[in-house]
Amino acid sequence: MIAFLNIFLALSLFRSAFAATAEQWRGRSIYQVITDRYALPQGADATKCDPANQTWCGGTWNTIRENLDYIQNAGFTAIWISPVSQNYEGPRSAYGDAYHGYWIADATQLNDRFGTADDLKALSDEVHRRGMYLMVDVVVNNVMSTSLTPDLSTFMFKEQSQYHTYCPVDYSNLTSEQNCWLGDDKVPLPDVNTQDSTVVSGYTSWIKTLVETYNIDGLRIDAAKHVNVDFWPQFCGAAGVFCIGEVFGDDIDFASQYQGPQALDSILQYPMYGALVDAFAIPGPQNMSAMTDMIAQSKAKFKDPGLLGNFLENQDLPRWANISVDVQSLWNAMVFSFMSDGIPIVYYGQEQGFAGNADPFNREPLWPSQYANTSTYQFMTTLNTLRNFLVNSTDNWLNSSMEVLTTTSNGLLFSKVL
Ligand SMILES: *[C@@H]1O[C@H](CO)[C@@H](O)[C@H](O)[C@H]1NC(C)=O
Ligand SMILES: *[C@@H]1O[C@H](CO)[C@@H](O)[C@H](O)[C@H]1NC(C)=O
Ligand SMILES: *[C@@H]1O[C@H](CO)[C@@H](O)[C@H](O)[C@H]1NC(C)=O
Ligand SMILES: *[C@@H]1O[C@H](CO)[C@@H](O)[C@H](O)[C@H]1NC(C)=O
Ligand SMILES: *[C@@H]1O[C@H](CO)[C@@H](O)[C@H](O)[C@H]1NC(C)=O
Ligand SMILES: *[C@@H]1O[C@H](CO)[C@@H](O)[C@H](O)[C@H]1NC(C)=O
Ligand SMILES: *[C@@H]1O[C@H](CO)[C@@H](O)[C@H](O)[C@H]1NC(C)=O
Repeated sequence: MIAFLNIFLALSLFRSAFAATAEQWRGRSIYQVITDRYALPQGADATKCDPANQTWCGGTWNTIRENLDYIQNAGFTAIWISPVSQNYEGPRSAYGDAYHGYWIADATQLNDRFGTADDLKALSDEVHRRGMYLMVDVVVNNVMSTSLTPDLSTFMFKEQSQYHTYCPVDYSNLTSEQNCWLGDDKVPLPDVNTQDSTVVSGYTSWIKTLVETYNIDGLRIDAAKHVNVDFWPQFCGAAGVFCIGEVFGDDIDFASQYQGPQALDSILQYPMYGALVDAFAIPGPQNMSAMTDMIAQSKAKFKDPGLLGNFLENQDLPRWANISVDVQSLWNAMVFSFMSDGIPIVYYGQEQGFAGNADPFNREPLWPSQYANTSTYQFMTTLNTLRNFLVNSTDNWLNSSMEVLTTTSNGLLFSKVL
């Protein structure tokens, strides 16, 4: 009996030491990397990476591990890395190669372009040794193919019934968005039938094993709005960690349905991103009311605004410097991301003034910057230092909800209670 209790205790300590809940993520700040683009191995040719070419540049889990100082010195307490599952490796597609990691083949295998199982464990261990959390991007909505009649034997799910039948997505119809195939006829993304019970049980046991094997602390979920909402509580429940989903689009009434016990812990704050662009980007309407309005709507409509992911850039959006000519406008928007309700997320390269447009130009290699200590890097460090202090040293800052005190046509003042 005593032996049994000891084992039970050891197991529960193990779980609580690694898997992190929504509450534990609330006070974190996240640095997002594209694994292929963050850092090169020693001796690699640093001149051979043109984002326009849509191919692998050579970043790995090991090179992230070897270059964590740059992230931790800026005050980040978590990293988000590209999907880790095996990707398409066939002939170059109409949209290049699977360097970004989102073109899933067999989810149960690791992507050997990024390293071995031991490399991923070593990255996870090193992240934890530094007191940081590891967030892994996962794609469950779809797999990838170069044909409308894919060879299912190459995927984790091998039965026809485990996929929805092909139809092009009609973006005005939610059922179609969820059941039809994303992509196009050159690179179709066969839609996994997440209403099928064998898929639900396959995915739930897969994610539980993945999280436990690599001590993953949180999941970023690709294309979350393209999956039936009731799939998520089962999936994230099995994972046992914080889940933040991608629900692309400005519509807050729609987006807010994806946060809560019936859906996900959190989503990426796309509606607020739109408002931040309206308020701060130059040229632009410079409309402060768009922000005050969105703050009020977020408080009214989201279950828990403090858990939402605040961002200004990501792998699907143009860089801030591509849409706004003034770096001060970036700094203003960054203050909001870090100091308002929500979890700040910075996409690698924002601190280096990268200015690429949308995919693939927003996936620049980081190494040509030489990881310089730029003014934006220093500003980001200051914001993280302040936020980490408030998180750690005050009773209420993290849990208190922001209150707008006053707005003018070019300013906004808000408070959070300490
Ligand atoms: C672009 O990528 C293709 C496929 O990997 C390669 O054959 C080609 O040489 C690359 N072009 C340049 C300019 O790097
Ligand atoms: C919406 O899309 C679904 C799936 O393709 C289809 O069965 C349904 O008829 C569509 N509804 C409307 C109103 O077009
Ligand atoms: C500014 O935003 C508010 C709130 O979203 C909106 O009602 C208004 O039309 C916008 N004004 C301009 C000039 O875009
Ligand atoms: C925006 O990105 C495109 C493609 O990368 C580039 O050609 C353009 O110069 C960029 N614009 C600015 C303002 O940096
Ligand atoms: C960056 O530069 C600032 C100002 O000189 C300095 O305080 C800071 O320590 C530097 N950070 C790093 C990581 O070198
Ligand atoms: C917060 O405090 C804990 C415990 O004192 C410490 O381990 C951790 O490094 C601190 N975190 C930050 C972000 O300052
Ligand atoms: C913040 O609120 C959550 C529940 O919403 C609670 O679990 C947590 O203990 C609170 N933290 C503080 C510091 O009050």
